[in-house]
Amino acid sequence: MNLLTGAHIREAAEYITARIKVQPEIGLIMGSGLGILGDYIENAVTIAYQDIPHFPLSTVEGHAGELLIGTLSGRTVVLMRGRFHMYEGYGPELTSFPVRVMKAIGVKTLVVTNAAGGINTGYDPGDLMLISDHINLTGRNPLVGPNDNELGVRFPDMSEAYSSRLRGLARQTAEAQGFTLREGVYVGVLGPSYETPAEIRMMRTMGADAVGMSTVAEVIAARHSGIEVLGISCISNMASGILNQPLSHEEVMETTERVKTRFLGLVNGLISLL
Ligand code: HPA
Repeated sequence: MNLLTGAHIREAAEYITARIKVQPEIGLIMGSGLGILGDYIENAVTIAYQDIPHFPLSTVEGHAGELLIGTLSGRTVVLMRGRFHMYEGYGPELTSFPVRVMKAIGVKTLVVTNAAGGINTGYDPGDLMLISDHINLTGRNPLVGPNDNELGVRFPDMSEAYSSRLRGLARQTAEAQGFTLREGVYVGVLGPSYETPAEIRMMRTMGADAVGMSTVAEVIAARHSGIEVLGISCISNMASGILNQPLSHEEVMETTERVKTRFLGLVNGLISLL
């Protein structure tokens, strides 16, 4: 049940706007090992999550807990270095609270990134995948509870959750930079245990290409708020049962480290086109 109200969002937003001189237009949420993009923000103002009213703290290795506001590829951005996952024990409304705050400080476009397991056997670890759509298997939804009509409608449309316009720009960027960009369906699970091979076979049958433990709650809240969304998954490992080896968080971190140059090129190139 949603215990966060418009007043909580406004308080967090006011805390942030009092500390910045620019109004960010683009929000960036960085997944495991992908927070490096924050190093490229010019004139960055850094605000620790722990200082922002009502913000939760992120508890996972590879996820710092700070908001960076500044200029990236000529655009004003707010970047979340570290995000909140429902497997940490946060409800979906807390997980997506930063998206509400982004909207309140002026964000119109959200770029969400994550590390994900490849379900599509044509993928390889290190591939970047544009999210064309998602399947929410978390069993949770950030909009459960009374609807605040100031934030969005009761029954938001999800027929184009991931903007085809933005996906077109991302494809164009990847082509100009000369690498293959996958495009597929992301299935969001609660975690934190990785999936069983049987679950992965089920997800493949359902039409999923990649699986991860984030993103869906944030994207639902973003669409409810009227924010345009682009999602990028870094395929950090092949999903359970595909290769004859166990999955580990170390592998996820190693792969994101290996592909970070390509990832940075894609996001930077794309931002200049937004
Ligand atoms: N499953 C779920 N979440 C993940 C995976 C995976 O294989 N890899 C990175 N995040």
